[in-house]
Amino acid sequence: MKLLMVGAGSMSEALVRGWIDAGLSPETITMTNRSDRDRLDQLHNELGVRIVDEEDVNAYDIVVLAMQPDGVLPYVRSKTWTKPLLISVAAHIEPAELEAASGLPAVCAMPNTPVAFRDGMTGLWFGPETDESVRATATALFERVGRTAVTDAKTMSAFMAAAGCSPAFFYEIVGSMTPVLTDAGFDEATARQIVAQAMKGSAELLLHETRPTDALISDVAAPGGPTDRGVGVLRDRDLSDVMSAALRESAKEDVEQHQS
Ligand SMILES: NC(=O)c1ccc[n+]([C@@H]2O[C@H](COP(=O)([O-])OP(=O)(O)OC[C@H]3O[C@@H](n4cnc5c(N)ncnc54)[C@H](OP(=O)(O)O)[C@@H]3O)[C@@H](O)[C@H]2O)c1
Repeated sequence: MKLLMVGAGSMSEALVRGWIDAGLSPETITMTNRSDRDRLDQLHNELGVRIVDEEDVNAYDIVVLAMQPDGVLPYVRSKTWTKPLLISVAAHIEPAELEAASGLPAVCAMPNTPVAFRDGMTGLWFGPETDESVRATATALFERVGRTAVTDAKTMSAFMAAAGCSPAFFYEIVGSMTPVLTDAGFDEATARQIVAQAMKGSAELLLHETRPTDALISDVAAPGGPTDRGVGVLRDRDLSDVMSAALRESAKEDVEQHQS
């Protein structure tokens, strides 16, 4: 499988790092951008990928469009497409628009940067012209670097808020917890590691569990014990309301951007 990344920014690099870590040969991955040759040289030297200035998009099996959203459709319209599976990772682009501009089946993917560590969460919005085989190919590609969920016009905004914006929410939570550890005597780096590892382990457990979150809380919160008292503070101060309001706000902002 030959893969072309059009755009060599942070998202493109995160995906390529994840795919190489997952076993794709760097030789099968080609990266290009618009003007920054130094950046391409750096990626070639660090990752061993191929780089090109002028790309023949039909020489690849998959072309991933990873430039800023306003550049995607002009780029697609500027080429004649005969072969590759077209995948855009740009926000606010719809697969039907790509299909109309290219004449080929297309997929809009919404990954997040943890794909670099193969721990990503990618939303996949399949175009109306995609068949089972195209869907399976796109799904397999992104499952190499994490998990996937099928999205569409209705669910994409909530997906982007939950998978794309929530890492910032988690960092905010970590930032509010670490001072308690540094006050107790840990250095900043150790404090961050303790909280982050506790979050990571809890997330791992959640991914293997089907019981409601209240049941998982009961597992660790004996009545009147320290966990139970801490959870009580979160509930008294309505953390649930705060978190859902934040997520709704991020999802709303995305809808407004999409409409503008
Ligand atoms: N960053 C994220 O967390 C994230 C998450 C999900 C989705 N996305 C999506 O991923 C896309 C890229 O985001 P980013 O953060 O990686 O942006 P970025 O760091 O600004 O990188 C954009 C890249 O696209 C290249 N480019 C622009 N126009 C081009 C063209 N016409 N042909 C070839 N290359 C072109 C730029 O090259 P030059 O520097 O040479 O101009 C640059 O390498 C965006 O559409 C964004 O919505 C990002």
